Amino acid sequence: MHLNGTTTIQSSEQLEDLLSEPTEAVVEMMRRVEGDIILLGAGGKIGPSLSRMAKRASDLAGTKRRIIAVSRFSAPEQTANLHAHGLETVRCDLLDEAAIAQLPAAPNVIYLAGLKFGSSGNEAAMWAMNTWLPGVVCRKFRSSRIIAFSTGAVYGFSPVGANGSSENEEPAPLGEYAMSCLGRERMFEYFSRTWSTPIALIRLFYACEVRYGVLVDLARKLIAGEPIDLEMGWFNIIWQGDNNAMTLLALEHAATPPFLLNITGPEILSVRETALTMGGMLGVEPQFTGLETATTCLGNATKSHRLFGAPRVAADQLIKWTADWVKRGGEYLGKPTHFEVRDGKY
Ligand SMILES: NC(=O)c1ccc[n+]([C@@H]2O[C@H](COP(=O)([O-])OP(=O)(O)OC[C@H]3O[C@@H](n4cnc5c(N)ncnc54)[C@H](OP(=O)(O)O)[C@@H]3O)[C@@H](O)[C@H]2O)c1
Repeated sequence: MHLNGTTTIQSSEQLEDLLSEPTEAVVEMMRRVEGDIILLGAGGKIGPSLSRMAKRASDLAGTKRRIIAVSRFSAPEQTANLHAHGLETVRCDLLDEAAIAQLPAAPNVIYLAGLKFGSSGNEAAMWAMNTWLPGVVCRKFRSSRIIAFSTGAVYGFSPVGANGSSENEEPAPLGEYAMSCLGRERMFEYFSRTWSTPIALIRLFYACEVRYGVLVDLARKLIAGEPIDLEMGWFNIIWQGDNNAMTLLALEHAATPPFLLNITGPEILSVRETALTMGGMLGVEPQFTGLETATTCLGNATKSHRLFGAPRVAADQLIKWTADWVKRGGEYLGKPTHFEVRDGKY
């Protein structure tokens, strides 16, 4: 099954194949990059398909390496699925320093761990996870290169009508979650400068696939007849498979001080227009509440597109796949993005 020509996604198996389909550039890169890859916090929404893409690309490149997925694996069936695709797994609570010390060494680290939802009222745990843990990981993997996920939330809002926040903009995080994520970046930066550890920080704006993401949230609200809040009036998204490819390609850009990279799609989507389009596909008249405000959370990912090319999947394709999947009652991860939140509280 290939991305090109896929008009509908019929099963979770097909979806996972598509999400882990490597680009030629990723396969080529695997020929140049040496050594094992360890992914920390691999049990969430991105980790499984990202690990699998790394494995597929490495195999296609004819290289041998271990791809090691580390997480608590709160969903136990995940490990069997990863093993079936040739990945190794290590069950580990990353907040346990002794357990981190036991992790295998690897020259390439991809850091995905984080705490966002449920963090209101649980702020101390959120800061430990998002800001303290990066220091522990840097100590363990100081001789490796590290690709660490951050978030577009570190920028705060940008004016509607502009092109979104770029990497050279000063961060202005709104609320404690976004502040703790800037703390995560600063800890990686500090240890990168101190120990010359090459690092890339990925400021991601809304990865999407058909089981979760902003489009799934919109489609489910439309079907439930719930009003759609217009105050966060615009957004951008990227097909998670394209995010996976760009994240792996960032391995060759890790640097001291850290290399900053926004990852998202080139389209600026209006919530209102997208809801109307999806409503048409779902046979539902959207209900709206509120009005568009002057600012929104938007990333300008020109740098990543210049380096790695535009995403393979355009937003309109993603909209069609998602509406079709949700209409048919396809699997739902039960992880809403809460993209409409404007006070920074999750
Ligand atoms: N998805 C997006 O659109 C998006 C957008 C912006 C930024 N990001 C960032 O990208 C990163 C990855 O995204 P994601 O969507 O895959 O996040 P996610 O679904 O929250 O996955 C992170 C995973 O880390 C694991 N984890 C959490 N605490 C842990 C601990 N103490 N020890 C070991 N593992 C732990 C959890 O899996 P287990 O339960 O198996 O441990 C969790 O599912 C996140 O840090 C997020 O900040 C994502």
